[in-house]
Amino acid sequence: EKGGYDHFMLKEIFEQPQTIYDCLRGRLDANAGTITMSGIDKFAEQLVNARRIVMVACGTSWHAGLVAEYIFEELCRTNVEVEYASEFRYRNPVVCEGDVIIAISQSGETADTLVAIETAKTNGAIIMGIVNVVGSSIARASHTGAYTHAGPEIGVASTKAFTAQLAVLTMIALKLGYKKGTLDQQRYLQLLKELESIPEKVAALLQNTEHIKRLAEKYKDSQDFLFLGRGYNFPVALEGALKLKEISYIHAEGYPAAEMKHGPIALVDETLPVVFIATKDSYHEKVISNMQEIKARKGKVIAVINEGDDLSASLADDVIVVPEADEIVAPMLSTVPLQLLAYYVGVAKGLDVDKPRNLAKSVTVE
Ligand code: M6R
Repeated sequence: EKGGYDHFMLKEIFEQPQTIYDCLRGRLDANAGTITMSGIDKFAEQLVNARRIVMVACGTSWHAGLVAEYIFEELCRTNVEVEYASEFRYRNPVVCEGDVIIAISQSGETADTLVAIETAKTNGAIIMGIVNVVGSSIARASHTGAYTHAGPEIGVASTKAFTAQLAVLTMIALKLGYKKGTLDQQRYLQLLKELESIPEKVAALLQNTEHIKRLAEKYKDSQDFLFLGRGYNFPVALEGALKLKEISYIHAEGYPAAEMKHGPIALVDETLPVVFIATKDSYHEKVISNMQEIKARKGKVIAVINEGDDLSASLADDVIVVPEADEIVAPMLSTVPLQLLAYYVGVAKGLDVDKPRNLAKSVTVE
């Protein structure tokens, strides 16, 4: 049932070209310039006119919400907030008639996310569920939504569900931005093509993973890790750190790269590996200067870069190359090597990567 892989986590990482494709299939047609999502079409008017959108989720799904915040604000010019479901539900949040709440959940059973949307519903919000498990509690409690179609995710660490969440949320943002007029036709069509090409780019980067295995061997005895990124790749840094913590039990922190000067830089010495997500995007030059700051303090830089980026490569002790893509869709690529890094470190340490200690696949208690 693991399809020849040693663990479900590895199988699920390698399934991503297919799961992202399945998620786009029947919805995205780049040639026709259309995205068909009946659950979104039904509420298109309310979504386009929403005063604000609030994403509620936990863990990895919360990271998907953070990426979506950047995408929605850019393409739809709507105010977006991203909330930990557990904080949102307990703090008497201000929810108004017509607010749109997007609940993101792989399992559809996370207790805090479920209660958060039930509370918001009683205040007149429109609830949209971005859920993987069909017919789950969150799917049923939502007014509308879109399934991620990633198939069953068995590994406790969420991998393929995350990239499918990003694919669905990107499609929704593209639809709404285009309908609203905040996204012009040329950019819309270009992004449809970019999104459509993601499955083959993920497949390409999965073709050679030996170097990530070697990196895992090299750094597996580190005490701590720092993950840094900016913009669309800031949440990817958080996700890389969460994966490593869960699977390898190494302490890891994700941070916006510019924020490190405000504290975490004190941690940097020659023993600290710092993973930079440094793909070519509008933040690239800034990320490079952050890399220089880490190098100057003798940190070990592991950089996720695009091919031909000699400048970043020259600053890094180790590089992981991912295919180039528009910054809006790039997180679906830059996340994958970080999933693999966590996996291989966990395996190198002899840990049970599919069932890390103290964790449950779905957290149905608050
Ligand atoms: O099923 P959900 O997406 O609602 O689960 C949310 C979190 O519990 C989940 O993402 C958790 O953080 C994973 N272990 C991350 O790998």
